[in-house]
Amino acid sequence: MVSVEFADLAAPRPGLGAVRPSLIQKVAEQGAGLEGVIKLWFGEPDRVTPKFIRDAATAALDDGHTFYVSNFGVPPLRQALSDYNVRLGRDIGVERIFVTSSGVNAIQLVCDALLSPGDRVVLPGPYWPNLSGIPAVRGAEVVSPDLTLDGDVWRLDMDVLLDAITPETRMVMLNAPGNPSGWMLTRAEQETILAHCRRLGVWILADDVYERVVFSGDCAPSFLDIATPEDRVVSINSFSKNWAMTGWRLGWIVAPPTLLPTLAMLGEYSISCVAPFIQHAGVVALRDGEAFLAEMRARYHDNRDLVVERLRAIPRLQVPRPEGAMYAFFRVEGCDDSFALALDLLRKERVGLAPGVAFGPRGEGCLRLCFAAEASVLAEACDRIGAYLSRQG
Ligand SMILES: Cc1ncc(COP(=O)(O)O)c(C=O)c1O
Repeated sequence: MVSVEFADLAAPRPGLGAVRPSLIQKVAEQGAGLEGVIKLWFGEPDRVTPKFIRDAATAALDDGHTFYVSNFGVPPLRQALSDYNVRLGRDIGVERIFVTSSGVNAIQLVCDALLSPGDRVVLPGPYWPNLSGIPAVRGAEVVSPDLTLDGDVWRLDMDVLLDAITPETRMVMLNAPGNPSGWMLTRAEQETILAHCRRLGVWILADDVYERVVFSGDCAPSFLDIATPEDRVVSINSFSKNWAMTGWRLGWIVAPPTLLPTLAMLGEYSISCVAPFIQHAGVVALRDGEAFLAEMRARYHDNRDLVVERLRAIPRLQVPRPEGAMYAFFRVEGCDDSFALALDLLRKERVGLAPGVAFGPRGEGCLRLCFAAEASVLAEACDRIGAYLSRQG
């Protein structure tokens, strides 16, 4: 009889060797048993989902929305998403909308539909780790042109990006407003990128989950404003950040109509359908949620300014002012191991931040602080960071 080592049985498929666990999770695991930690490591609003949305879920349960539903999403939610896009000035019909269980699930489905092992994916960095991890799980090769810290903001040089999007590229992933950097794309830049990708036949995956979290206006420019339904443009979105619904796991995809049957097939073989009572709550969030969105933007705007001012007062920190999303992503002079720094800050000062290196090599030397929290909590966190760094000298 051939003996098989347990280690061999438990070994994952070889391709997964290239995929790394999230370093944000690793810091959070270290902090799990510690008392008094100010937890600003995850990208999560600190407040519970608004009551009118929770009530809508309860009512949907009471109405018996507890059965399997269509792979595409329930018709009222697809219609509400179409209406929502129309209100934002985009002519998006229901035939282009696919409901997903979260933004992460949306990215997975799009990557499953479009990527083959070995495909080249362009993703500017620093980037949210899942955006590189999801294509990597599918065997794609992720190439990352650098954003630069240009005085007050993170920027992406268009020449650098367009050079990276070669004829061999299958997909470019663009997350603007971006996590962790808060960078934005202008309409003119989107037009340049779209024209380039049209010429080369490259897919654009726009991660628009922070499009309503902007500090000038009420919505970031989107590729959906300028693309036709036939363009190779897919937008993924989520209820998590905008409507404070992270734990609900609800998102959506806007895609060319011809891609929808493929998404439905892949959806069937992954989660089959999204819980219908959650989808019905999503309808109400879209319909009645604009006042909440405005309040959330105003609060994060104040929080951003508070955090930027306080961190800028600390020597050794280079602190850009993000234009969107809910993070301060700042450089610590002299730091070349942000993971070690985040762990030390956690143990000594009980402040939980995400290490910059979690967002790819371009993020090394930086830390990310999520400012979707109470102002007093943010002020205390900044004081602790200042105290820690002053002791380091
Ligand atoms: C850039 C970006 N895209 C997508 C998501 C996905 O959010 P969710 O899976 O909660 O919908 C996140 C969450 O942190 C994010 O930061």
